[in-house]
Amino acid sequence: METRITIVTELAGAEVSGLTFGHFVEHLGRCIYGGIWLGRGSEGADEEGYNLRVKELLKDLGLEVLRWPGGCFGDQYHWEEGIGKDRRVRRNIWWGGYELHEFGTDEFLRYCEEVGAEPYVSLNLGTGTVQEALDWMEYVLGERPLSYAERRAENGREEPYKVRYWGLGNETWGCGGNMRPEHYADLVRQYSNFIKAAFPDVKLVAVGHTTDWNRRLVASFWERPARIDALSVHQYTRAKEDWDEEDYRRCFGSRAWKERQISEAWGLITALSGKVKLVVDEWGVWYDTARRENGLIQKGHLKDALSAASDLHLYMRHADKIEMANIAQTVNVLHSVVLAEGSEVKPTPTYFVFKMIKGHKGGRLLPVVLEGERKWPVEDPSGGEYLYPLPDAVATVKGNEISASLLNPSEEDVKVELSLSGGDIGSAEAVALVGSDLQAEDVEPVPAEVSLEGGRARLKLGPASLTMVRIERR
Ligand code: AHR
Repeated sequence: METRITIVTELAGAEVSGLTFGHFVEHLGRCIYGGIWLGRGSEGADEEGYNLRVKELLKDLGLEVLRWPGGCFGDQYHWEEGIGKDRRVRRNIWWGGYELHEFGTDEFLRYCEEVGAEPYVSLNLGTGTVQEALDWMEYVLGERPLSYAERRAENGREEPYKVRYWGLGNETWGCGGNMRPEHYADLVRQYSNFIKAAFPDVKLVAVGHTTDWNRRLVASFWERPARIDALSVHQYTRAKEDWDEEDYRRCFGSRAWKERQISEAWGLITALSGKVKLVVDEWGVWYDTARRENGLIQKGHLKDALSAASDLHLYMRHADKIEMANIAQTVNVLHSVVLAEGSEVKPTPTYFVFKMIKGHKGGRLLPVVLEGERKWPVEDPSGGEYLYPLPDAVATVKGNEISASLLNPSEEDVKVELSLSGGDIGSAEAVALVGSDLQAEDVEPVPAEVSLEGGRARLKLGPASLTMVRIERR
């Protein structure tokens, strides 16, 4: 049996923004300390204190976005304790241990510049004030003679930083303050009112959640507007590390609730100015073994890398609605792309998914029509069955080049024939991430065979694989 895939080249849709391939770092476990930061003079650190090997890997991956400092930690973070010479020691309320504030605003923003990532700062709405937020923004964006711009210059940075995205708290329905949506809506109005008056060019992201929360929040904004640019959602895939087949399938079945959440949130926010977008602030696989006591660390496997590919496919397909998506978290925490322990630093299989799938960046989405495809029955963890298409395909176009990512999470081969609706395939090459073992921790993309005949391409997608095909039109 062969699946025929037609890429509809006449109908280029929304552009896939690089921000779809974003990342998140929090002061949690060994993500920052022992992950991206080692401290000046430490073994393995560069002259500034960053973990050199981690930095090289992330630079090479091309980090698009880095969200910081939380997560839950963000709503206990007081930025002035992390600048200049006197750094304060505090308890890390949510994740345990002490926060020494060695890594603060300047360390974060310089890091973003070094790895080429767009910084996204989460403001503290849980224990902070509007004035504290405005002062922080003045420190980051202000020009002399403003006092906080002077402070920044004293700390070695004359030029303002460039930070467009600012989050209005994190999970304010839970760790960020256990608020009611109506109360949070008032805070969003208050913060956005002052922030947009002082810094009209920034983009503000409000906290979204369930459909009920989003409905009440949007109803409040409809009655009395808030100056926001996006609403966020978090989409974690809960799974057992010691998984069985059913658990594995549920990772892919979670597509159903994730898509529903996106559509429902989108349906609500379109009632606002028509310009508010969605941001998936945090997403990824969260294993049962990743707990507060172990700093939420988990291994990276082929299976969670394929689940990441499935989620990235979903976010790309909704490129008209989703402005940004950030996997949680970059190093040593949850669904990381790099694991670092002392001098041992290695990319996880998910690192390579990002590397491959980022070929879609800047491309415009093309519709993909599947015929004769097998449908894989998987359970939606929120109830019901979902028929996952084999393969799950996304195609984009940039000039004469078409990229198609083909995901086959099933245990059987999938044979495909690829064609273009408007013309012939002139050349095609492919790489695949594939392993014989879903639990494999060390897998890397390898070239995959593609044959061309009569302007069509044929290839075989191995079991549990992601294949990226690059096509030139004739
Ligand atoms: O990513 C770990 C935690 O998950 C974050 O701090 C919080 O926002 C979410 O619940």
